Amino acid sequence: MTEFANRDPRQAGFWDERFERGFTPWNRGAVPPALIEYTNGLQDAQTCLIPGCGHAHELGFLLQLGWEVTAIDFSPAAVDAARALFPSEVERIIEADFFQYVPATNVNLIYERAFLCALPPEIRAQVVARWAQLLPAKGKVIGFFFVDDDPASSKKGPPFRMTSQELNALMRQDFVRLEDLAITDTLPVFEGKERWQVWERLGD
Ligand SMILES: C[S@@+](CC[C@H](N)C(=O)[O-])C[C@H]1O[C@@H](n2cnc3c(N)ncnc32)[C@H](O)[C@@H]1O
Repeated sequence: MTEFANRDPRQAGFWDERFERGFTPWNRGAVPPALIEYTNGLQDAQTCLIPGCGHAHELGFLLQLGWEVTAIDFSPAAVDAARALFPSEVERIIEADFFQYVPATNVNLIYERAFLCALPPEIRAQVVARWAQLLPAKGKVIGFFFVDDDPASSKKGPPFRMTSQELNALMRQDFVRLEDLAITDTLPVFEGKERWQVWERLGD
């Protein structure tokens, strides 16, 4: 069992310690197929933000599509890991706290993977509120959600699971769901409970 000094995932130090020690069980190390499939169906290039990007494996793929992409993470060690993977894109990989970060250009798509579930349940509503602030009407949050409706499952995290009811309650004020697919090729840390979802920002 790996022992860590920092036990609070709301602090950058929690993530620094894990990146520095190479303990990143959430790291897929590749672009997830569901993201590739989704982008195949899009005509237009997007202006995309990746909050809590970690290694940011998706960055190179999305840039190749012609998208404008910014990846942010508040952990300096995570930023170092992403910049090591994409040394020619360091200016797109920014050390910033998601709750404070103001994008230089308007974003119309936010890519979510293992960020919402990395944070304790009590700050989920702040994440969703910030997504809603950052996106225009019809802007999208796309990505992977750790959803588990089994009442017997552990509530410990990260990753912190949520029920579909909890997720819907969080999102419904500002978003409508357009896609919801079970993911079969999940990493062990997500226990087969990941779903690919697309949420559209409500508004005129
Ligand atoms: C479980 S990792 C997921 C990393 C990446 N999205 C992936 O799929 O591999 C969660 C990441 O969110 C980052 N993070 C947590 N809170 C953050 C915040 N308030 N602002 C920016 N990044 C944050 C952590 O530093 C960490 O890199």
